[in-house]
Amino acid sequence: MKAQNDWQQILIQCKNNVQTSIKPCLKTIKEPQPDLGKGAGGDAMKPVDLAAEKAIVETLKKHDVSFTLISEESGVKKFGATPDECYVTVDPIDGTTNLLHGLPFYACSIAVSRKPAVGDVYAGLVVDLFHDVTYTAFKGKGAYRDGEKIETSKTVSLDEAVVGLDINTYKVKEVAPKLTALIEKTKHIRHFGANALELCYVANGLTDAFIDMRGKLRTTDVAAGFLIIKEAGGIVTTPENQALNVKLDPKQTLSFIASGNMQIHKKIVSLVKS
Ligand code: IPD
Ligand code: CA
Repeated sequence: MKAQNDWQQILIQCKNNVQTSIKPCLKTIKEPQPDLGKGAGGDAMKPVDLAAEKAIVETLKKHDVSFTLISEESGVKKFGATPDECYVTVDPIDGTTNLLHGLPFYACSIAVSRKPAVGDVYAGLVVDLFHDVTYTAFKGKGAYRDGEKIETSKTVSLDEAVVGLDINTYKVKEVAPKLTALIEKTKHIRHFGANALELCYVANGLTDAFIDMRGKLRTTDVAAGFLIIKEAGGIVTTPENQALNVKLDPKQTLSFIASGNMQIHKKIVSLVKS
């Protein structure tokens, strides 16, 4: 089992190797992308997704980590002699559509836990790959942006708030009515298209909350981001304001409300219909 200091270095090494490994893919991103079939999470895989995942796996192997990989692309795979001691949950590229369209908002997310459950994550890293900004957190040790401690927003009034909503779904007739009352009361609504990074924006106090009520987001996308928000002082619950401890699995989906502080969280929960 690796210590916290080891993980700090290993996660940064993973990030560096992801950044290097995707460079060739970024050069050819405007060209038609080969059909690589579907990943374990159900979305079409692109060379850039696989390059990022390979960089993470190779880095962990190089550091002699025994682990179970839980990835949106390759699914669940075991490596080393004691893979049940450590789970590494990854979304190699979160926001692949943004990346393919040249939209500068996509990330890589890596979470480490002793059990395959969201509540057990003890180390997390999300890197904004376009802007080269890294968010990290270790359980009980706070959250950091490029090494500087970060905190969630203190804004409690929806009149002043910037709230992120993921409404990216064909089932808008089911999802939109749940959010109408909140949208009516909120000054600014945003959606950038990479959930892992949108969670870090809440952690950093850039936005005041982020909500995904579609019931289709995978736990691989949020495993690191949830820890980063909580360590920055924020709150993450189910839409019913219950503790969120779902399984880490490429097929496991969820809905959630993540807020910068308890006061705004309660207001949001009371306005959202679950
Ligand atoms: C996607 C992003 C996006 C969300 C999609 C996810 P991916 O992740 O997080 O914001 O709306 O549902 O699939 O597929 O690019 O890893
Ligand atoms: Ca992905």
